[in-house]
Amino acid sequence: SRVNRLDLILQHVRNVPDFPVQGIVFKDICPILKEPKALAAVIDLFEEHVRQKHPHTELIVGLEARGFLFGPLLAQRLGIGFILVRKKGKLPGPTVSVGYTLEYAKAEAEIQADAVQPGQKVLLIDDLLATGGTLHAACELLKMQKAEILGCLVVIELKDLSGAEKLPVPVFSLLQC
Ligand code: PRP
Ligand code: ADE
Repeated sequence: SRVNRLDLILQHVRNVPDFPVQGIVFKDICPILKEPKALAAVIDLFEEHVRQKHPHTELIVGLEARGFLFGPLLAQRLGIGFILVRKKGKLPGPTVSVGYTLEYAKAEAEIQADAVQPGQKVLLIDDLLATGGTLHAACELLKMQKAEILGCLVVIELKDLSGAEKLPVPVFSLLQC
């Protein structure tokens, strides 16, 4: 059932106090990847959501680094493509980039200039939504390319930080912490 799957996922998230800096409780999703049933539960629930709510999705956009762990599995399930938003300086060829701030750092996000065609329907995916800085930056990149952004998918949403309010599209989260 849905509740059993969510419970299994929750059991495989580890809280690590004071990482990477003092005062942050880091949500470590590595145990999910180590347990195939938990990973399958994540992909099952995302697949169900996308088939019900966004059946015309054309591309899954994964955010470095942990969006890369779930995104390609989901895209394969759906029979659609996967593209990458990376930290600046990693992608070859013409790119566009944007700076942003996240819960415990600053960074620049980048996408290949030809990754999305104007009007293509995309869903973004990452492991976790905290302040929303990272997903917001990725949305900015996709808007520059005139993609049609349908929504964002995350395993964990840190509700207290209100990251979803910063985003231009709905967020679907499996766990709200
Ligand atoms: C983490 C996480 C999200 C982001 C969320 O990535 O995986 O991408 O922070 O924070 P925000 O909502 O405040 O922007 P991070 O850049 O720390 O590292 P990674 O490259 O290991 O994914
Ligand atoms: N990214 C931003 N905040 C985070 C947190 N508390 N745990 C894991 N990843 C994060």
